[in-house]
Amino acid sequence: MCGIVGYNGNGHASPILLECLSKLEYRGYDSAGIAVRDNDGNISVVKAKGRLKVLSEKVDGGRALPGNIGIGHTRWATHGEPSEANAHPHISGNNMEDSPVVGVHNGIIENYQELKEMLTKAGYVFYSQTDTEIAIKLVDYYYREFPDPKQALSQTMMRLRGSYALAFLFKDYPDMIWAARKDSPMIIGVKGDESFLASDVPAILKYTRDIYYVGNMEIACLGKGSVSFYDIDCNPLQKETVKITWDADAAEKGGYEHFMIKEIHEEPRAISDTLNSLIKGGGIDLSASGLSDDDIRAVTDIRIVACGSAWHVGMQAKYVIEDIARIPVGVELASEFRYSRPIMGPGTLVIIISQSGETADSLAALREAKSQGVKTLAIVNVLGSSIAREADFNLYTLAGPEIAVATTKAYSAQLVTCYSIAVHFAFVRGLLEKEQYSAFISDLLAIPAKAESLLEDKERIQWFAAKYANAHDAFFIGRGIDYSIALEGSLKMKEVSYIHSEAYAAGELKHGTISLIEDKTLLVGILTQNRLFEKTVSNMVECKSRGAYLMAIAGAGHYQIEDTADFTVYIPRVDEHFAGSLAIIPLQLFAYYTSVARGLDVDKPRNLAKSVTVE
Ligand code: AGP
Repeated sequence: MCGIVGYNGNGHASPILLECLSKLEYRGYDSAGIAVRDNDGNISVVKAKGRLKVLSEKVDGGRALPGNIGIGHTRWATHGEPSEANAHPHISGNNMEDSPVVGVHNGIIENYQELKEMLTKAGYVFYSQTDTEIAIKLVDYYYREFPDPKQALSQTMMRLRGSYALAFLFKDYPDMIWAARKDSPMIIGVKGDESFLASDVPAILKYTRDIYYVGNMEIACLGKGSVSFYDIDCNPLQKETVKITWDADAAEKGGYEHFMIKEIHEEPRAISDTLNSLIKGGGIDLSASGLSDDDIRAVTDIRIVACGSAWHVGMQAKYVIEDIARIPVGVELASEFRYSRPIMGPGTLVIIISQSGETADSLAALREAKSQGVKTLAIVNVLGSSIAREADFNLYTLAGPEIAVATTKAYSAQLVTCYSIAVHFAFVRGLLEKEQYSAFISDLLAIPAKAESLLEDKERIQWFAAKYANAHDAFFIGRGIDYSIALEGSLKMKEVSYIHSEAYAAGELKHGTISLIEDKTLLVGILTQNRLFEKTVSNMVECKSRGAYLMAIAGAGHYQIEDTADFTVYIPRVDEHFAGSLAIIPLQLFAYYTSVARGLDVDKPRNLAKSVTVE
């Protein structure tokens, strides 16, 4: 996700802003920029695509930008390709002269389209593709009516929907930085006659450990070493500083021990942000992808092509799309698809799923499909990535940058994107009544809160993981959707704990693999599909009778499983099509805690890369 910073003091702002931004690089970004006011009151904005180094060179390490107050930004593109024009800071006019407001933003404005229409009618002209420019111009719109920054921010906050950490320079208020926050993180640090603003602690840890956490719907005004806070009604608020005791490394992980556990905790937000980009006004809207309803009605069959965990998403999507939308779905490993001379017709839709958007096999598969004139839809997490650029249609997951090699939040965001495709395709093709469509949508929107509740079980899972940290083999089994969940649970385990692990369709065990089950073998049964519950339980019992130790992931209410399983995690009630987005969380936690118990480098497992950009 993006990173914002601010500095107000008597030091040279530019190098300090660049230093603060450098401590946010770990969050992932594609462009950066700073805005600094010099002692004559002129605000200069300098932006650059690419690494922070490019920006730093443009301003000669900051020496080319005098002044002791400014804001800065590292951008993780969500609306609009990575480019200098889309980079922040953004200005409220079309040039600096007619821009009383300059700002930076971290977050996602959900109602940006309606606001853009309103502002366009009011005479505003837009130079970028970003939701942020719209937010900055909205502040300007209200500032012209209420020439008081906190009034203008208050009015703006009442109109914005979504998440934002916003920081501004107002031309008429030369000695202040103004800020407003909802949902996206923002902290403010003070030391002597200096004030610092940032998205995250690492940015300012070098300068101060005394920080204020800015609350939701709060406004802040940074003076030189002093900060005033207001609520959305512009009433003053009193806040106390908090002393940060973390070291820099822990601070980058937001206080978590590893990025993987941090990103598991970010899953509810990743799911929510992704769903909010697809579900508008009570319906699913895939039009941002470029797919029209006619395109959807013309689909005769779907081929999902991916690698690793993304392929597991495809395996799960097959069950869900075929059951709800009744469209035949083939799921292919990209490394196989690209050499298999695939047979596709004019109605085939190839869906490429990729977190990085740079996986070589998946990119090659995309090109193979396009060479045959087949329509291609990419589900990717990185705007401007190769797969996103080359596919005919794009649906972006909004999981934010994923740092741990083992994917968690991006996997979950891909899953809910595929669920949305299944439901929307079924509705457009006339297979769902409005009531069923709405019921599916409310089930989808309930997933983030249910995912959050599963995180409360982590201590129990950590205890069980410690018991099994020395296992040599683990087997994950399930039927239907549960089999696809088993695939991902198994990969997570072997990826980060190096324990040999296999996933099997439960009914397939007796065709050979059950010969491997012996005393103390760990077997994890996935039991979210009611109509298949007894079948899989009987497979688990077959293994238990041969000495296996059983863990179960079961749907709420199936308490009889505790007569069979030695350890059970229940998932909250949800439409069974969507159970995978919940069942995977305890499995991710299980793999994570097993790796930690074995003292391994859980974020950077041996032999693995975050993006496999070579064959
Ligand atoms: C996920 O935990 C793995 N690191 C790996 O299987 C990954 O899913 C695969 O390499 C595909 O990557 P992509 O989604 O970036 O294309």
